[in-house]
Amino acid sequence: MATVNWSDRAVVQTSGLYPYVPGKPVEMLLAEKGLKEAVKLASNENPYGPSPKAIKAIKKAVGEVHRYPDGDCGELKQALAVKHGCGIENILLGNGSNEVLELLIRTFAGHGDEVIYSQRGFIVYALATQAAGATGVAVPEADGLSHDLDAMLTVITKQTRVICIANPNNPTGTLHGMIALQQFLDRLPRDVVVIMDEAYYEFVADELGDTVNELDHPGLVISRTFSKAYGLAGCRIGYAIADSEIVSLVNRFREPFNVNFLAQRAALAALDDWAWVMARVTDCKQERDRLELTFDAWGILGGRSFGNFVLLRHTHASRILQMLEDQGMIPRPLGPYGMPDYLRISVGSEQENEQLLKALESVLRAL
Ligand SMILES: Cc1ncc(COP(=O)(O)O)c(C=O)c1O
Repeated sequence: MATVNWSDRAVVQTSGLYPYVPGKPVEMLLAEKGLKEAVKLASNENPYGPSPKAIKAIKKAVGEVHRYPDGDCGELKQALAVKHGCGIENILLGNGSNEVLELLIRTFAGHGDEVIYSQRGFIVYALATQAAGATGVAVPEADGLSHDLDAMLTVITKQTRVICIANPNNPTGTLHGMIALQQFLDRLPRDVVVIMDEAYYEFVADELGDTVNELDHPGLVISRTFSKAYGLAGCRIGYAIADSEIVSLVNRFREPFNVNFLAQRAALAALDDWAWVMARVTDCKQERDRLELTFDAWGILGGRSFGNFVLLRHTHASRILQMLEDQGMIPRPLGPYGMPDYLRISVGSEQENEQLLKALESVLRAL
């Protein structure tokens, strides 16, 4: 049978593009190591699960999944518009904020256009840029971890269409405050789209303030997700707030029913359980601070994190990874970000964090 070289047939931007590598699934580690139990701390998920109201809403909605969802997400848009004090025409819903990011980049950057992001910024920006056929401009961090906003300004050209900033950033956990962000926005050309990726916003709401209403730039797009603080990562739902024309342009590329019915119902219920969600955020931050204090005392803290994860830094990080996996713990190696000495570890429940610290203590002793 004649074989076809499919890579010659695929669009040119597939060359050199690699699929996103997610955290190792629990089932895979169990099979690899012959273990009975494992704790995944590799994808910055919420260890407390979704709000009880969201679980109830999903159960109620299950019987209706033979119907298509509301392709416009009208009810959810209305709730988000009230929450953020904006119009429904300013809201874009996605199958996770990941889809929102990809759609935005595809809408505004194509062949010959440039997208600027931080070298150790969330890796999806680089992947989405290449998939769109645009040119990525990766800017090194000032201190190895934090977006260098001044340096990002210096690489702007006539071809710059989009700038992506994760605040807090994944995987480095760094945060820029409102004043620094506004000073950055003030120095930009007005027609550049800035994606302010706030996937971890709820963890910094107190220190950062209301970015949706206080930051000002015509091309500002603020993206948020239900995957982290709201504990709905498996539902796949995120959103962005932007100028209505930006939203309407992106909607041309959007698949008609991109946000499924269960996700819409769960998100609405979770929004209605804000106090519960924020109480879990407080729990998570307390646990994060406890982990960071211990890491610091052990000389392995990789830097302060503002997200729901902590950074471990050690010259034998890959050995530590293996030894933790042997004990059923799954952290995330940061080699793909050019950070081979680092592991990113999601904050788990109190019990999971205890397990982690116990395992880590024995690993460090055995090194
Ligand atoms: C900074 C950042 N942005 C966006 C996402 C995408 O999240 P989701 O597609 O689950 O909304 C993640 C996920 O880890 C992230 O860390």
